[in-house]
Amino acid sequence: MIEMGSSRTYKRIFLSPPWVDASERRAVEAAFRSGYVAPCGPQVDEFESALAALAGRRYAVAVSSGTAAIDLVMAHLGVDSSWTVVAPTLTFMATVGPAYHRGARLVFVDSDASGGIDASLLERALRDLGGRGRTLVMGVDLYGRCCDYAAISRLCRKAGAVFVSDSAEAVGATFRGRPAGCAGVAGIYSFNGNKIITTSGGGAVVTDSKALADHVRKLAQQSREKCVWYEHREVGYNYRMSNLLASVGLAQLSKLPSILKKRKAISDFYHDRFGKPGSGPLSFLPPVEGENHWLTVALAPSGELRDEIIAALSALNVESRPVWKPMHLQPVFAGCRVYGGGVSEDLFSRGVCLPSGTGLARADLARIAKGVSAVGLRGGRGA
Ligand SMILES: Cc1ncc(COP(=O)(O)O)c(C=O)c1O
Repeated sequence: MIEMGSSRTYKRIFLSPPWVDASERRAVEAAFRSGYVAPCGPQVDEFESALAALAGRRYAVAVSSGTAAIDLVMAHLGVDSSWTVVAPTLTFMATVGPAYHRGARLVFVDSDASGGIDASLLERALRDLGGRGRTLVMGVDLYGRCCDYAAISRLCRKAGAVFVSDSAEAVGATFRGRPAGCAGVAGIYSFNGNKIITTSGGGAVVTDSKALADHVRKLAQQSREKCVWYEHREVGYNYRMSNLLASVGLAQLSKLPSILKKRKAISDFYHDRFGKPGSGPLSFLPPVEGENHWLTVALAPSGELRDEIIAALSALNVESRPVWKPMHLQPVFAGCRVYGGGVSEDLFSRGVCLPSGTGLARADLARIAKGVSAVGLRGGRGA
């Protein structure tokens, strides 16, 4: 028996809750006072300029979610049932959900040990597709760790495939010194409440292509033509970000450096406490240069112990989560082709995302460590 006390004794620690203070409230009040309460306004323009600069891109379009951003890029590319979308199997559903709705064929590729897409398996998948064109590769910066933009770009160029970077989790991360989202025809960000910065809900498309940016912006606003009356040559969406939420995003962006520092300190705490020889049975995903430490992922020696950690934390009213369940294991994608699969299955069975919220206090970390340690001692390998 692990003696933890009642979960009701403690205030809940969430995995990655929004971290906001009076500056976000002031920003919203200022936006209200300016009169721009509608989806368009100066804060959206300012937020888009700041996002383009952050991504090292020429253009950014702020939208209602990361999923909407992916959907809009696919709409611009014309993804339909004649397309194949290749994606890492270890990701969140939103990477491929829009492709599924568009009727595209989905092909999944396993991860390497760091959790990013395995480039040699991607190469095999693209070779098997035979350069038939109409192939989109979704790179995913898993848990804020950029995938290998250089390798994916090279393979896509060789295969004539389009590369889009799903950097939903990677705002503020870098790949070889360049910003997350800088690779491929477009990158996408998420500002969902659990992300590194939030607009409560929101997302963005970042790109160097004026044609892509203009089309995505138009599609996001019902594809209305420039005309006094409502004229439509194509059917669009209502995916724009509201000006009020853009004001929250601007306040959050100004804090990004301190958020990244705090997230790294939290990750360092876990590594120091549990990652050293003799400190217990846990290991961690190998570090990736430039990661933003969105979530720290620990690996238990077995699935059984991983479940015990989650239960022990839950008993202390602490939220933790298994690593993403691979897409090729999802019932809805049972018929899809997968290249490899064993690595992501192993990460899913043993991996646990530890609380990583920017607002975590010392006492919170102590409580989390207490829960993990109880299981660690029972694991019998360390301490
Ligand atoms: C890898 C990945 N892609 C896409 C999304 C979708 O973002 P959103 O929740 O803003 O729609 C998320 C986040 O939730 C994500 O983790």
